[in-house]
Amino acid sequence: MPLHKLAITAAVALALGAAAFTSFAQDVVITPDPALSSLSVEDMVAKRQELMKTNGATLKTAGTLSGADAVKAAETLIADFSNLTVLFPEGSDTVKGSEAKPEIWQNLDTFQGYLKQGVVNATAMKAAAEAGDAAAYGASIKALGGLCGQCHQQFRAS
Ligand code: HEC
Repeated sequence: MPLHKLAITAAVALALGAAAFTSFAQDVVITPDPALSSLSVEDMVAKRQELMKTNGATLKTAGTLSGADAVKAAETLIADFSNLTVLFPEGSDTVKGSEAKPEIWQNLDTFQGYLKQGVVNATAMKAAAEAGDAAAYGASIKALGGLCGQCHQQFRAS
């Protein structure tokens, strides 16, 4: 794909993401597992890395699922993104093995906004799965995939 076309595609994707953010962001209630708050910082880092991996595995197979399995995949993503909101305490980028960037805490609203958007997108995915709406289901998976990349580009060292 020529570079200018790629840039336009990215701009459209960003615009769509922003639109989705403003219209739905208020509609979800985030309920992280309260037990996570008492973990040590090291365990929080291990836990968030584990949840990220689960998200990757879930998203990878989600496109092939339908019915109750698709609903379950969406529920996993909702729970994981909700739990991730309490697993980035300030300074935890210095824990050995963490790829979190210090920029997270300088832009915490943006970072937390991405996680909330993950819950929003996964909630849309669940609704589409329950309705048996394959097109909406596919679109929500695509939106989730875009979100992973967007946040990693900004906040994950590679
Ligand atoms: C809000 C920002 C954000 C979003 C959204 C996000 N990630 Fe991450 N991800 C991170 C950060 C930061 C790290 C580094 C965490 C660490 O090492 O402490 C990470 C790490 C990872 C890792 C490596 C885990 C390991 O073993 O070290 C994988 C895999 C991953 N993410 C997959 C995903 C997938 C798939 C999605 C989308 C469904 C996603 N992430 C969404 C910020 C995000």
